[in-house]
Amino acid sequence: MERAAELLSVARRGVAFTGAGASAESGIPTFRGAGGLWTKYDPVKVASIDSFMQDPTAYWMVSKERGGIALAARPNPGHLALVALEAAGVLVAIVTQNTDGLHQASGSSRVVEVHGSSRTVQCLDCGTRESRAVVQARLAVQMPPLCKSCGGMFLKPTVVLFGEPMPVSAMHEALALAQSADVMLVVGSSLVVQPAAGIPVAAVRAGASLIIINAEPTPFDSLAEVVIHGRAGEVLPEILTLVNT
Ligand code: OAD
Repeated sequence: MERAAELLSVARRGVAFTGAGASAESGIPTFRGAGGLWTKYDPVKVASIDSFMQDPTAYWMVSKERGGIALAARPNPGHLALVALEAAGVLVAIVTQNTDGLHQASGSSRVVEVHGSSRTVQCLDCGTRESRAVVQARLAVQMPPLCKSCGGMFLKPTVVLFGEPMPVSAMHEALALAQSADVMLVVGSSLVVQPAAGIPVAAVRAGASLIIINAEPTPFDSLAEVVIHGRAGEVLPEILTLVNT
């Protein structure tokens, strides 16, 4: 903990890279690890673009539950500690795999969403966009939800499903931030999903110190200067206190 605080105290171009574990203490289940969504469902069956196109109802049955939880979720102390690290001039940005919008809700000013946002839904036929909250309300009476403009049945949250390309500009921005970072702070990611997991690696290759805070070991722990196995909502506020003293 002390070493992480030391590294962050002198950082001026720090970047946080967050995953589902950063939102776990806001009540949103992770994908992997204890109780993870992919321990209950096969991601290829429920979160790939091919399965979505074959059966949007099956996708929405799973997404309905997770979406309801995510819409009701509020930032946790880990999110707030990242905002404070930005205010202290330590972090310049957050690159996130999360689609829940909680970093923005907590007040982080530069958030790069490499897996898109679940707060917006788009019709794949006509391109019309609606807020997730509005579509979520419709799910009680309409499954799958239909486009309000063209009646199409392929309404998809603007998230990256397996088999879809990554958002090009977000990936460019994330890699540029990683390559100019002095510290890369990974929070709550299993670091097994590529190409996103390559972002912290790119930072290390360009000379950044790597700090990993995660409940469990990750494949990149050996690259890190500091590895802390714990809960983001507890560890990050403790580190913040050390940085501020
Ligand atoms: P994962 O679910 O793969 O990993 C979350 C990690 O957080 C696990 O290693 C957990 O042990 C850890 N964890 C759980 N609770 C924690 C807590 N309170 N504090 C710290 N760590 C905690 O999530 P991601 O790495 O984000 O893709 O997964 C990457 C991508 O896989 C996701 O963006 C999603 C998924 O399929 C798309 O949606 C495209």
